[in-house]
Amino acid sequence: MNELSASSANVDQAAAVLRAGGLVAFPTETVYGLGADARNPAAVARIFAAKGRPADHPLIVHLAHAGQLTAWARDIPDAAWRLAEAFWPGPLTLVLPRLPDVLDAVTGGLDTVALRVPDHPVALALLAAFGDGIAAPSANRYGCVSPTSAQDVHEELGNRVDLVLDGGRCPIGIESTIVDLSSTKARILRPGNVTESAVRRVLGEPLATESNRFVRSPGNKPSHYAPRARVVLAAPEEVELRIGEWHKRGQRVGLLASHWPTTLPDNVTLLPLPESVQKQAHELYHCLRQADHLGLEVLVAVMPPDVGLGHALRDRLRRAAGLGDNGEPAQVQPQPLPGVEP
Ligand code: TXA
Ligand code: MG
Repeated sequence: MNELSASSANVDQAAAVLRAGGLVAFPTETVYGLGADARNPAAVARIFAAKGRPADHPLIVHLAHAGQLTAWARDIPDAAWRLAEAFWPGPLTLVLPRLPDVLDAVTGGLDTVALRVPDHPVALALLAAFGDGIAAPSANRYGCVSPTSAQDVHEELGNRVDLVLDGGRCPIGIESTIVDLSSTKARILRPGNVTESAVRRVLGEPLATESNRFVRSPGNKPSHYAPRARVVLAAPEEVELRIGEWHKRGQRVGLLASHWPTTLPDNVTLLPLPESVQKQAHELYHCLRQADHLGLEVLVAVMPPDVGLGHALRDRLRRAAGLGDNGEPAQVQPQPLPGVEP
């Protein structure tokens, strides 16, 4: 793998790699993406192979500006232009009816395509140099934690990627909000930094409820974003109880929290989170990776309040814990630890 700083010469080289059908990992404001030419089926196939991702999980096509929407989507509703105007470039993905020539490999065979204009100078420079859509999922192996630094990409994909543009840490740290505009009522498929109330304010009408998001977003499986450590969720008042339960079983336990009890058992490792939810989002995936680097077996994570960006953080923590939308067990459960009662 070639890891390059994000100079303009290197951006041009990255665009050439994309044109030749190669894979380029690049920074966005949310997480690092694993990019390929979205018009080249062989290049798109390499994304799925590199990630170990099932072929029916659709990809987001990244664009340089909203004017390119018409090259990918049809029947674009006024709502899409209004959201693009309000939030692009930015951490918002729009799902729209697709044009017939959009590759099935990109959409997972769906009749819709996901599109976004990222707000990162390196991503925008690459998109401008390349000149067309770049299909890019998060640059991690399937189901694992999204990378927020070039080093993380290296750890996830090694030399399965031809070139990594290093743009430092991603400022936001969790993936974009996905809004489905392909049916009559707009629906949030994945919460993110652009909150539901911000979307509602721009649209001026209520959104559809989230209940069937998995039907519409097959790649949105509940066990995404999971570290190797078992993630155990705790309300603030349950922290000591949860730590005690796992500590008693001889597990190497960590605590991920912005507030913690004054007395923690010896050898419980504290992964402190900052106070603000914005900063927590920035640190979350970094901390999940750190838990694995430290060899922790259990990570007790305190759920933030369900307001604003806290909603998206709770979603990612639930998925890291292998739980679905409402705390229901996911189809894919974390493997039980040997010798430990579930
Ligand atoms: O912030 C982000 O969105 C990052 C950066 C790299 O842009 N990308 C990202 O991509 O998170 P990925 O592939 O890890 O997640 C994309 C999500 C998946 O859950 C997928 O199912 C959903 O978008 N998706 C893509 N196309 C869709 C479609 N046509 N309908 C519904 N969901 C779709
Ligand atoms: Mg992903």
